[in-house]
Amino acid sequence: MADVPPGVKGMNDILAPEVSKWQFLEQQARDVLEAFAYHELRTPVLEYTPLFVRSVGEVTDVVEKQMYTFDDRDGRSVSLRPEGTASAVRAYVENAQWNKEPITRWYYIGPMFRHERAQRGRLRQFYQVGAEVFGSGEPSMDAEMIAMLVDMLVRFGLDGGAIEVAVNSLGEPEEREAYRGKLVEYFSAHREKLDDDSRRRLETNPLRILDSKNPDVIAVAAGAPKLIDVLNEGSRARFARVRALLDALGVKHQIDPGLVRGLDYYTGTIFELKTKAGELGAQNTVAGGGRYDRLVASLGGQHTPAIGFALGIERALLAIPAAAEGYEPALAVFFAPMDAAALDFALPIAHRLRGKSIRVEIEHRPGKVGKMMARANKLRARAAVIIGGNEIASGKLTVKDLATGTQSEVAVVDLESKIRQLLD
Ligand code: HAM
Repeated sequence: MADVPPGVKGMNDILAPEVSKWQFLEQQARDVLEAFAYHELRTPVLEYTPLFVRSVGEVTDVVEKQMYTFDDRDGRSVSLRPEGTASAVRAYVENAQWNKEPITRWYYIGPMFRHERAQRGRLRQFYQVGAEVFGSGEPSMDAEMIAMLVDMLVRFGLDGGAIEVAVNSLGEPEEREAYRGKLVEYFSAHREKLDDDSRRRLETNPLRILDSKNPDVIAVAAGAPKLIDVLNEGSRARFARVRALLDALGVKHQIDPGLVRGLDYYTGTIFELKTKAGELGAQNTVAGGGRYDRLVASLGGQHTPAIGFALGIERALLAIPAAAEGYEPALAVFFAPMDAAALDFALPIAHRLRGKSIRVEIEHRPGKVGKMMARANKLRARAAVIIGGNEIASGKLTVKDLATGTQSEVAVVDLESKIRQLLD
């Protein structure tokens, strides 16, 4: 027999019952986002490559090493989106969104692509729930967003006490420029301990050294001067206000002065949410985000302050409790026809129930009642409808309550109300 060509490494199929867990999580996310008056934004998964180079940054792991980039048939370089913020900003600018509303709140749910080393919680096609707000630079928006994100994780079923919120401030680009000098001085003095990547970045983008995954570099970076210590009065006051508002909202959080995030567009507040809950291993950062007040203008739009986050769905799923089966909707009714004539009789009756949005499965291979009941139980059906010659002759169906095992005779016209009564 011929072998099936395998699926792409790091890109998974999502099957039932696991898919129910996904649907549950996505629904909770939508409910929370809609309660905060966000609108869904759908953008293509493919963009012209310069969009990501100019927003995520040329000297970042994502752009240098992880993008799926290729020339399309017109010879233009395109990339599968590694994240959603760049596309949201492009859509904001191309649609002149600032003319339409003073504040735009967008969210998206969809696949992102990064050619990373695949492992638990780290995939090459992974899914994010993301949100972006354009037009507000207020500290209260930062606090509102972080609090919303914590709420979302709690709605997924995570224990609020197990969520760690780390915050930091990157200040304004001008402040970072001054800090850059201090970093270069520090890392130059420890040059021999840096890897090739970090040495190169010492010239091009020293801040990225702080985000290195290499343990030797991490050890050196621990002693580097901290950006938060050199921020000016304005940035400090703003950050203090964000933290005070988080306290007022009951969001426990810590400053992590080493937090820099792996994308270049950030300014001001940045944050990451981690948890040790569930089966998450080393990849325990469930969500991250921050302000990017300069990005819209740098991509050709009007100056527009903005803030956003993205949450990794696979990671959130690893963190939430219980087996996937518990998330699967149970079957309402299993139709068990005993022979071909019963199947013909049952089909339109089942069809009508389905038209009323009642979840029904019908056995298309009539057979022994015992075997059919075993299947009904496996599907966690609430009731089974058994149909044979007697039922057809009398016009009364045998309805078995699968919770109690009791059977009753129900006229065809009364079936829907009987089922609803059982489901209540
Ligand atoms: P990010 O930190 O690159 O930020 O990704 C956000 C989240 O996506 C991570 O915390 C993680 O849960 C998940 N994630 C990232 N890479 C992978 C992967 N290879 N496999 C599985 N999950 C992954 C962003 O993407 C920014 N766009 C967030 C943002 C929005 N900032 C402002 N607005």
